[in-house]
Amino acid sequence: MKDFVFHNPTKIVFGRGKASVIGDELSLDGHKRVLMIYGGGSIKRNGTYQTVVESFKRNNIEHFEISGVKPNPILSKVKEAISFGREKAVTAVVPVGGGSVYDSAKAIAAGIATDNDIWEAFLGKWKVKSALPIYGILTISATGSEMNGNAVITDEKTSEKRSISASVIYPRVSIIDPEIQFTLPKNQTVNGAVDAISHVCEYFFNGYSESFIQDHIAASIIRTIISSTEVLIDEPQNYEARAQFAWAATLALNGINAAGRGSGDWASHQIEHSLSGLYDIPHGVGLSIIMPAWMQYVLDTEPSSMTPRFDLFAKLVFDSVEKNSMTNAHNAIQKLKNWFKNIGQPVSLTEVGLSEKHIPQILDNIEHIGLPTGKAKKLYRDDVEKILKLAI
Ligand code: NZQ
Ligand code: ZN
Repeated sequence: MKDFVFHNPTKIVFGRGKASVIGDELSLDGHKRVLMIYGGGSIKRNGTYQTVVESFKRNNIEHFEISGVKPNPILSKVKEAISFGREKAVTAVVPVGGGSVYDSAKAIAAGIATDNDIWEAFLGKWKVKSALPIYGILTISATGSEMNGNAVITDEKTSEKRSISASVIYPRVSIIDPEIQFTLPKNQTVNGAVDAISHVCEYFFNGYSESFIQDHIAASIIRTIISSTEVLIDEPQNYEARAQFAWAATLALNGINAAGRGSGDWASHQIEHSLSGLYDIPHGVGLSIIMPAWMQYVLDTEPSSMTPRFDLFAKLVFDSVEKNSMTNAHNAIQKLKNWFKNIGQPVSLTEVGLSEKHIPQILDNIEHIGLPTGKAKKLYRDDVEKILKLAI
């Protein structure tokens, strides 16, 4: 086990009907003027909006709103909300949504607290050291943003999708009410499943192998996501499956699964972010295309270090045991890819309308954000090109 510091300051309030306590949580810390952030309207259609606003009223909290945050959230919306929040002198930011809304809220909370240009933090020119506190309600489990210090935003003018990480943008409180997710369309549930699984894989395959407890936590998270997703495809309103899925997805990227392993690989995520940045592909779709291709590439090119890891993955996640560990390692990738296919996810660039002719543009975007990428294997432009070709 590697040395680590684990410090996760987010308070989680989990359970049925818990959205109604958002005002109480804000009141505990004395907030009276808050900026609520949400997306394209799902929260109005499923009643969450009304619950939240009533909770504000009961607690005498004045709220202001920014809506219309889109999936793959964009910088101009963040900047609009920063100016608005400053003008209204809010003291807290309240995302009610998924990763896109949470990530926007984090950038907004940091942007209100500084005179610097927030995008320059994403460019690495300054470090986020202060932010308004964030009190959120999660409406789709996928990214782990409800309990981590990351935010991912796209500058839509340049198609650059970039991230920041900072301790001050961990939400102070996140409410996870699995019932709110009853209204998720199937494709959003499965996007979330792929994303959560891929977060676990970014650590499982980071090139470090002395990690018995983490390997079993990882397998448990993935097995939970697989079994609950299979229930939810037929029964989107199954509370127990929504609850299991939700908590597993949070644990996938809140530091628990990472502690003792060192940093993640993150190459699949970086490659995916260029697909989202350039073509507005949903994150979970990009990952179901890129991650199996990345796995194939690292196994083929680094067989001595990667075969034991994929063999173990096959055993722990799929109960697949073969005498020949290389055969079993390939099984792991095939089984994961088949599962993505079976739940209806695209697993090739062709399925989302991309072909070999798009590869140079994707490579330029990735290179502009920063190469090499990856940890289990350092990837340069020609490696990424081979992965993209495997993904066609
Ligand atoms: O906008 P509305 O109308 O609310 O609809 C949303 C949106 O269209 C819908 N939705 C959410 N909750 C719903 C619902 N529809 C019905 N019922 C509900 N209860 O779902 C759609 C997708 O929402 P979004 O927030 O985009 O999904 P997700 O949580 O997957 O977030 C994806 C974003 O997070 C980033 C991704 O790159 C992407 O931009 N990530 C953030 C990370 C982090 N902060 O740690 C890590 C991830 O790896 C990822 O990069
Ligand atoms: Zn992700």
